[in-house]
Amino acid sequence: MTPSMNRRHFVTLGTASLAALSIGAAPIKKPGSRKPVVIASGREQTVQIAMDMVLKGHDPMDAAIAGVAIVEADPNDHSVGLGGTPNEEGVVELDACVMHGPTHGGAGVAGLRNIVHPAAVARCILQRTRHVLMVGDNALKFAREHGFPEQDLLTEQTRNAWIAWKESKLRGARIPESVAALDPVVRDLVDRPTHGTIHCSALDTHGNLGAVTTTSGLGYKVPGRVGDSPILGAGLWLDNSVGSCGSVGLGEVNLLNCASFLVVENLRRGLKPKDALVATT
Ligand code: GLY
Repeated sequence: MTPSMNRRHFVTLGTASLAALSIGAAPIKKPGSRKPVVIASGREQTVQIAMDMVLKGHDPMDAAIAGVAIVEADPNDHSVGLGGTPNEEGVVELDACVMHGPTHGGAGVAGLRNIVHPAAVARCILQRTRHVLMVGDNALKFAREHGFPEQDLLTEQTRNAWIAWKESKLRGARIPESVAALDPVVRDLVDRPTHGTIHCSALDTHGNLGAVTTTSGLGYKVPGRVGDSPILGAGLWLDNSVGSCGSVGLGEVNLLNCASFLVVENLRRGLKPKDALVATT
């Protein structure tokens, strides 16, 4: 184990996650000869998993989805999936989207409740419908129909943090000392609500791209608030012959710029990756 890694890097997926991830995964191809590349925000294990898969010949979008799934399934990561920070009513609402380079297909899901792997649901929307975006209760119904298991995404930590946030911020409870007495992780979730997001882009050994962005969105958001993560062009964009870009951070800012699309267009114009990013600001 390298010094920068700890136990959290070695979460493994349970059978329910593995079953959910197999829904719609493409058959493995013979690996090609091109040099693969994988990038991700968040966790080194995401890159390791996705890289391992593209080297074995998995589809790059499937590799990226499996890479972020390890974080979606981790109850101790409060930015995505299980254990994600809830909305102001204590309900976890997830957003995600995926894009597939060879077919230039993409889809997103927004405000999805009770499903640990929203990115895999987005892939299912891409493959099993003619639609590009599904939301809320009907997205959940769709996921259920396609075999995704349901579970409560709120954990003891996130429930405690949400109750403390609600009591101190909304109700003006006279309990600053009780917030101070909380477990440090829970206290941090009260004081600094997350808008963390995981993006992963993978280039496979045939030169094909796949990408995913997944999030629980802005902590304690107004129910129904949707950020940039499920919106193609904002949460991510790719062009198989040009490149790929994904976004993390406060979604409202990006929704007003569609920066992922813009970055890929800047790459097409010949800008270097850093300049392509800077040119969007
Ligand atoms: N970038 C994630 C969000 O704002 O919801």
